[in-house]
Amino acid sequence: EVKACLFDLDGVLVDTAKYHYIAWKELANDLGFQFTEQDNERLKGVSRVASLNILLEIGGLSFTEEEKEKLAEKKNNRYVEYISTMDSSEILPGSLDFLKDCRAHGIKVALGSASKNAMMILNNTGLTSYFDAIIDGTHTSVAKPDPEVFLLGAKALETAPEHCVVFEDAEAGIEAAIRAGMVSVGIGSPETLAAANVVIPSLQQMNVARLRESFASV
Ligand code: BG6
Ligand code: MG
Repeated sequence: EVKACLFDLDGVLVDTAKYHYIAWKELANDLGFQFTEQDNERLKGVSRVASLNILLEIGGLSFTEEEKEKLAEKKNNRYVEYISTMDSSEILPGSLDFLKDCRAHGIKVALGSASKNAMMILNNTGLTSYFDAIIDGTHTSVAKPDPEVFLLGAKALETAPEHCVVFEDAEAGIEAAIRAGMVSVGIGSPETLAAANVVIPSLQQMNVARLRESFASV
């Protein structure tokens, strides 16, 4: 029986993946190299520090820890500028209806995001009140694909991992769900998210009836 849904934020509930991409691309260009949308797939779901390390590897550059801190800060300042003007129009289609449907059917809802900016995004878009628990990058010590963020979510919801469904747009996030002992729904392309139990283009294709049908054995 599905008892809880754990949602990634960026790229699942809100359209922030594009802002992360633009901000990282600007940083790469500042440093003198190109950064493509395909490169960006590797950064999705990954923490800020880990993302920077992947980006610098792509550019073939190395910096001291201190310099890297400055670069990460530069990226984040740009990113925060983009998200500071967000409103409910940037909630991805189907998200609100599905969150409401979950609550109406007594399915608990948690956020499981790597982002340290999650609260700002939830508040700006008006999503905060839909969650029974919020776990973000300020609560975790290790990033996805480590399962920590989802295990903390399940614990906060007092629900066993085997009754939890994770919604994710990132490969690292699906891996984290598997390692947490949870089933998962990939939001995006079936090629990138092949490890998910179910892949749909967006939450518009999801409701509680379908969720229960897909995970009847959970
Ligand atoms: C994840 C994003 O949700 O959060 C990653 O998919 C991002 O792209 C990570 O790097 C950390 O976010 P932030 O806002 O703390 O830099
Ligand atoms: Mg994501």
